[in-house]
Amino acid sequence: MYDNKLSSEQMQKLARLNASRPVKVVAVTGGKGGVGKTTVSANLAVSIAARGRDVMLVDADFGLANVDVLLGLHTRFHLGHVLNGECTLEDAIVTGPHGLQVVPSATGVKHMANLSAAEHAGIIRAFSDLYHRVEVLIIDTAAGLHDSVVTFTQTAHHVLVVVCDEPASITDAYALIKVLSREHGVQRFQILANQTRRPGAGPDLFKKIQRVCDRFLSVALEYAGAVPFDDYLRRAVQRQTAVVEAYPSSISSVALKNLALKADKWSVPQGARGHLEFFVERMVGAGMGPSAVLQ
Ligand SMILES: Nc1ncnc2c1ncn2[C@@H]1O[C@H](COP(=O)(O)OP(=O)(O)O)[C@@H](O)[C@H]1O
Ligand SMILES: [Mg+2]
Repeated sequence: MYDNKLSSEQMQKLARLNASRPVKVVAVTGGKGGVGKTTVSANLAVSIAARGRDVMLVDADFGLANVDVLLGLHTRFHLGHVLNGECTLEDAIVTGPHGLQVVPSATGVKHMANLSAAEHAGIIRAFSDLYHRVEVLIIDTAAGLHDSVVTFTQTAHHVLVVVCDEPASITDAYALIKVLSREHGVQRFQILANQTRRPGAGPDLFKKIQRVCDRFLSVALEYAGAVPFDDYLRRAVQRQTAVVEAYPSSISSVALKNLALKADKWSVPQGARGHLEFFVERMVGAGMGPSAVLQ
């Protein structure tokens, strides 16, 4: 089901070019479900794509409302099908607003951790054969501290932690940062306050988290900004569209577009670690197997 405008020779050429270009990998996480990880991932991805970047959004949230639902995209395949050989990764990718490429979550494919070496290789090949160019890879991670969350955050260049001003969200974000830093060597985190209800709530929330992290952990936190609580965002969820598309001048859209502007300026890594192919190799090599891609 390749785009028949391109010959296979052209596709191979593009895939080789793609594999040699650096990609910026951003993992969106938060510990707790319902804080807004998927909403932020999707709107961030759409907004960066609207800025003219080639963006891929990997839905690695296994359980809850998924990126494809949020963006009203119709999916036929996911990575499970790619592994089964039922389709190529290109077939599984669906296109969202501004050419955003979405890799749908592998709902229903639960335990893929015990895949064979050939299947590992298959996943790596699937990503490295992509002829779509990818400049920014955004990963919407699952809630909690699954192995997949650890793997994705370890592999990413930037870890965006979404936090709400509620005790449970703060506790979960702290627990996540603690485990990732103490046990998995992740030391840098971008903190995004979501669903804030007054001006100044974002910086206050950031200070709260920074205070406790400074006391007990050795991590570098950066304040990524705040997304206000916004009924327009909820309406957009109902309409299955990104709020930045449906209500571009709403308060949450303005904040999300500011975040995109910021994230677009985050450094693009140079060298092997930055390439898509190496990202996938690292992910698979990190002990998770391709389930990291699937969960
Ligand atoms: N800034 C916000 N303002 C209002 N509602 C929000 C905001 N962010 C998230 N929500 C609501 O929270 C729900 C859960 O968000 P979601 O992104 O699915 O969370 P997660 O992926 O962390 O589980 C969304 O469907 C939306 O209704
Ligand atoms: Mg989610």
